[in-house]
Amino acid sequence: MIKYVVVLISVSLALWSGSEWMNFWISEPGDDQDLVLSKEELSLYNGEKDSKGLYLAILGQVFNVEKGRKHYGRAGGYRFFAGRDASRAFVTGDFTDSGLTDDVSDLSPSQIVALYDWLAFYQKDYTPVGKVIGRFYSEGGKPTDVLLQTETSLAQGLKLKGQAEKENKLYPACNSEWSADRGGRVWCSTKSGGVHRDWAGVPRMLFSPGSGHTRCVCVRLDDSGQSNNRNLQQYKGCPPQAESCPLNPD
Ligand code: HEM
Repeated sequence: MIKYVVVLISVSLALWSGSEWMNFWISEPGDDQDLVLSKEELSLYNGEKDSKGLYLAILGQVFNVEKGRKHYGRAGGYRFFAGRDASRAFVTGDFTDSGLTDDVSDLSPSQIVALYDWLAFYQKDYTPVGKVIGRFYSEGGKPTDVLLQTETSLAQGLKLKGQAEKENKLYPACNSEWSADRGGRVWCSTKSGGVHRDWAGVPRMLFSPGSGHTRCVCVRLDDSGQSNNRNLQQYKGCPPQAESCPLNPD
């Protein structure tokens, strides 16, 4: 008899305390960070009428973007990202049907870095749900070869970015201006190129062998390395110690 009373009390408690208690047994899909969804399942979370919720995927990782409904919901300016993985469009800005794809195979390493910046944004601001099966994750939720290749490209991009940042500190960009009556000029200051420093430097043309272009950079006069750097050249008609150089049209 006492057994029946205990069971009855437990069932009554369960019913009385409602969904919270029941949720212990029935987990909400949004609570699970390890869900593996098919593309079709993901598409049911596109925020349209009768949809199951609001999810998006980037690099195969699915996020619940319900709190950003104003962006991704039916009336949002970025609604085309909902219910799918449109990784490519995050860096190309091509929001047409053909642009909204997860094919990132021909993106450059620096574009892949930008794509991972978006992934970091969703990891920080939104709730992870799981993975979508396809280009980046297998049915078992394991990374595919495509994801591993994309990560290799990321590593290359980060290396290039590091080198560019190092070069930018060593040789910050010049200020420049142009006017119809006075023509153009370039000059250095302690903040030019967005690099705050205690030296201004003098303008030099830096040739980048990769791109074949030259750009104006500020070089320290006491930098002994600059005389050895064959990619650095003085501006024609500008004294070597001048902080400002006119640009001659020829
Ligand atoms: C590659 C191009 C672009 C992509 C992929 C992109 C993507 C996005 C995304 C995903 C959001 C929502 C972020 C969130 O969840 O909080 C957003 C917000 C926003 N974007 Fe863009 N965007 C792009 C270009 C632009 C441009 C060119 C502008 C301005 C001219 C712009 C202005 C904004 C503004 C103002 C918001 C915030 C809106 C608000 O808080 O109501 N975006 N963008």
